[in-house]
Amino acid sequence: MAQKRPACALDPEDIQLLVLCSQEAKKSAYCPYSHFPVGAALLTRDGKIFLGCNIENACYPLGICAERTAIQKAISEGYHDFRAIAVATDVQDDFISPCGACRQVMREFGSNWDVYLTKPDGTYVLTTVQELLPASFGPEDLQKVQ
Ligand code: THU
Repeated sequence: MAQKRPACALDPEDIQLLVLCSQEAKKSAYCPYSHFPVGAALLTRDGKIFLGCNIENACYPLGICAERTAIQKAISEGYHDFRAIAVATDVQDDFISPCGACRQVMREFGSNWDVYLTKPDGTYVLTTVQELLPASFGPEDLQKVQ
């Protein structure tokens, strides 16, 4: 399988801003059932940042994660090219990683972009959509049918 080159890292100031934005987004989380607030900040290739939070529902399966909220906001505003996303939670002792559904939705818009998993103290680990969802299925595969 062809490997795409890794995305270049952002400048430290841009990373810090994205992390702060994800923490800000977390403040809007609507999570009365899980009490697990999540925020996401999605950076487009042209430098715009979209915020997202998890939004739960009394009908539990209808809840949506912070990452997908941010992506849906961006897509609905006409932005499809993503550079990075930062994800913030209240978990102090671990870097929380996106769920499988969010990984697939991220992958829809390419595998070669960055994912910053963050802690409340602002520390982070950098991964990529490719690393989170290797050997993935994507839009290009639909073109392969004879
Ligand atoms: N959640 C997110 O928003 N993003 C993640 O990466 C993991 C989980 C949300 C979904 C639900 O509202 C709550 O966290 C508990 O699963």
